[in-house]
Parts: sequence; structure tokens; C-alpha cells
Amino acid sequence: MTKHAVTVLGLGLMGQALAGALLRAGHTTTVWNRSPGKADALPGAVVAGSVAEAVAASPVVIVCVTGSAAVREVLDAAGDLDGRVVVNLSSGASREARETAARHGRYLDGAIMAAPSDIGTPASAIVYSGNRAAFDEHEHLLRDLGAATFLGDDPGLAALHETAVLGLMYGILNGFLHSAALLRAAGVPAESFVPFAGAGIETVAAWLPGYARQIDEGRYPPVDATLDTHLAAIDQVVQESVAAGVDSGPPAFARELARRAVAAGHGGDSYVSVIEQFQAPDKERS
Ligand SMILES: NC(=O)c1ccc[n+]([C@@H]2O[C@H](COP(=O)([O-])OP(=O)(O)OC[C@H]3O[C@@H](n4cnc5c(N)ncnc54)[C@H](OP(=O)(O)O)[C@@H]3O)[C@@H](O)[C@H]2O)c1
Repeated sequence: MTKHAVTVLGLGLMGQALAGALLRAGHTTTVWNRSPGKADALPGAVVAGSVAEAVAASPVVIVCVTGSAAVREVLDAAGDLDGRVVVNLSSGASREARETAARHGRYLDGAIMAAPSDIGTPASAIVYSGNRAAFDEHEHLLRDLGAATFLGDDPGLAALHETAVLGLMYGILNGFLHSAALLRAAGVPAESFVPFAGAGIETVAAWLPGYARQIDEGRYPPVDATLDTHLAAIDQVVQESVAAGVDSGPPAFARELARRAVAAGHGGDSYVSVIEQFQAPDKERS
């Protein structure tokens, strides 16, 4: 196993997990954190007294702090990065990733799709975008943090994928909470809904490859049910919600999108045709 020198800037919950995984893999790991004491749980780490000292110690510098303003502050304090590879694993907008990349030549933006406890295990997945040569050169090191996937040269792609997964996650969570509230109004405990919810999510997950193909081809032949049929089902969810005194916002939004798609002539198409309504948002709401 090849050992490397690597620096981690930021020792919050995630930064500590990253540094811990690098230490366990045997890499010489230099760490810095704004507040003192955060390296106490990292035996074997070299604790730097300043960002500049930490950066000088290694050819690869990993940044994991909260917010793009903090990333900028930390990297500004680093001074001349002198050809070092900066791997920014802090969350942020794709635009901010592109701006940071423009200031630092050998820059990789990464999005962590895992919890701190998963880092360094097969359950951890991190996506990267930006400087391909830097990724290729240090891929073996990055793999010690978890599965590493390079998405492309556009530095914003990793952040965009993180945002896309977050958007999906909150959609699913609110769907679950809305349904749990609907059942709760009738005295049904959420726990007994879990098997039905899990089966529903698995069913939808199995539809995704076919749906994705239709999106990419821009054609929406009905496979299971037409949009007209789906619209009636969504209306049922709205009506039940209203009757139960549960906020009908989530299904009402879905019904609005489906109604607009039907009005645009997609009633006989598949549910996938609704994507065109996302691409032409209602001006009043956006
Ligand atoms: N935790 C997760 O499950 C998870 C998952 C995926 C991605 N992430 C991303 O990882 C990043 C860090 O998350 P975390 O969970 O480690 O957060 P955290 O535990 O709250 O730690 C925040 C870190 O950012 C540092 N920081 C904040 N503002 C700073 C500034 N102006 N200058 C220097 N350092 C600053 C903090 O330093 P101090 O100790 O001095 O306050 C601390 O090291 C975030 O972008 C987060 O979205 C986290």
C-alpha cells in the first residue's frame, strides 16, 4: 500500500472522519482546525498551528468546512498553494465550485454522499469533478475515503449531483411524512406504515431506469398507466388529505403539475411527461 502525505483543513464531524480514515490507511496526515482541541480524537495526526503550515506539509489538501465563505477564507489564508491539489469536500452550490476552481488551478470539488461513520468503509461514496489529471493522480488516496467517482471536467458537477440527491431525498421524506400524517389522523401508527412505504419506494425505484430512458429520448409512451389515470389517483390523495385535515400542499402541487401536463396534451402519455412542467416553471411561483 502506497503511503502519502495529506492535509485536512476543518475538523468538524466530517473532517474528523476524513482525517481518521486517512490515518487508519497509514497516510501521514496533517490537520488544522479554526478552534483548538478538535484533533484530540485523532492520535497520530500532525497538528499544524496555521493553515499555511498545514498546506506546506502535503501535496494534497482536503478542505471540509461549513459554507463556501469559510472555504474561501481558509484557502485565502493558505497563501500560495504552489501546485498543490485542493480537494474541496465542503458542500456548496455548483456556481461556487466553479468560482473556487477558477482561483485554484489543480482543484477537485467533491460531494460526500455518506455519513461520517461511513467514511473509509464500502458504504461511503464520494463524487468528484474538476481537474481530471489531479483525480487520476490521487485516485488511490481518495479511495481510502470511500468509493470515488469522477463525473467530469466541469467543477460544478459534483455539487450539482449532491443537490440533485438532496432534492430527491426531501421529496421522498416529505412524501413519507405526509402519508404518515394522513394515517395518523385515523389513529394508525407510523411504524405499521413502514413496510408499505418501503415497498412503495422499491416499486418506484424499479421504474427509474425506464423513466430515465424516456426523459433522455424525449418521448413518453405509456407503459403502466396514462397520465390521465395518474391524475385521478393524485386527486384522491388531495381529497383524502383535505377530509382528514392534513395539509394537502404536496399532493396538490403534484396535481397542479399533472393538470398542466394534461392541458399541454399529455393525458395519454406516461407520467414522465410531467418533466416538461418542471422545465417550464409557473412564472408566478418561481
Ligand atoms: N456531517 C455530515 O453528515 C456531512 C455529509 C456530507 C457532507 N457534509 C459537509 O461537510 C462539511 C462539514 O460538515 P460537518 O458535519 O463536519 O460540520 P460541523 O461538524 O458543524 O463542522 C464545521 C467545520 O467547519 C469549520 N468552520 C466553519 N466556519 C469556518 C470558518 N469561517 N473558518 C474556518 N473553519 C470554519 C468548523 O470549525 P470550528 O470547529 O472552529 O467551528 C468545523 O471544523 C459541510 O459542508 C457539510 O455539508 C457533511
